[in-house]
Amino acid sequence: MKKSINALTKVLVTVTMFTTSFTAFSEGNEVATLRDSTAIETQKTPDAIPNVANTDIKQKRNYPMQPPLIPHKVRNYQVDLKVNKCMSCHSRNRTDESQAPMVSVTHYMDRDGNFLAEVSPRRYFCSQCHVPQRDAEPLVENTFVDMNTLMKEKQASKAEKH
Ligand code: HEC
Ligand code: HEC
Repeated sequence: MKKSINALTKVLVTVTMFTTSFTAFSEGNEVATLRDSTAIETQKTPDAIPNVANTDIKQKRNYPMQPPLIPHKVRNYQVDLKVNKCMSCHSRNRTDESQAPMVSVTHYMDRDGNFLAEVSPRRYFCSQCHVPQRDAEPLVENTFVDMNTLMKEKQASKAEKH
């Protein structure tokens, strides 16, 4: 009997804790920051959809292995089992017509380093790695520092010491 009373107390305590934390959550509502602190039960006025950068100008890569950013629109470009719209311009044998840069040779390599005739399945879904950019403010701060900047800072501090 004592045992089951203990168990009941435990359940009661848990339920009370849950209810308290739920109330606190819906009142303070500080978790949903991407909704600009709009209360959970309120529908947020949607932000305007940002434009996709469509400059056709290459962007600097932040580090040598970075997949280059896409400098053009890709809306409605179909990439699925049957069709790869990107490869209709970026494959080796379409670049004369499209004047697009060919996907680099790594895109034709399988995991053992053999070169295939067609794009490797590992690189088939382009948007896994390549993304266009939008004219929107970043949602979170980015503190990335380019390697060259780091090296310059180091050299400058060395020069100061001597
Ligand atoms: C109609 C032809 C065409 C299609 C389709 C196309 N591209 Fe492009 N792409 C280009 C051209 C041309 C460039 C060169 C820059 C420019 O003119 O925009 C380019 C540039 C790029 C670059 C920049 C390369 C660099 O070295 O900076 C990337 C990455 C890229 N495209 C990825 C894609 C992806 C991913 C898709 C499919 C979702 C795609 N492209 C579909 C024509 C195309
Ligand atoms: C797994 C990640 C990944 C996928 C998937 C991928 N790429 Fe890339 N891509 C890269 C990386 C990394 C680079 C730069 C280094 C390199 O060439 O391997 C690159 C380079 C490129 C370049 C520039 C080539 C050059 O020599 O300037 C183009 C264009 C490109 N990719 C297009 C595409 C297209 C089109 C697809 C889809 C068919 C695709 N990529 C799929 C990672 C990827």
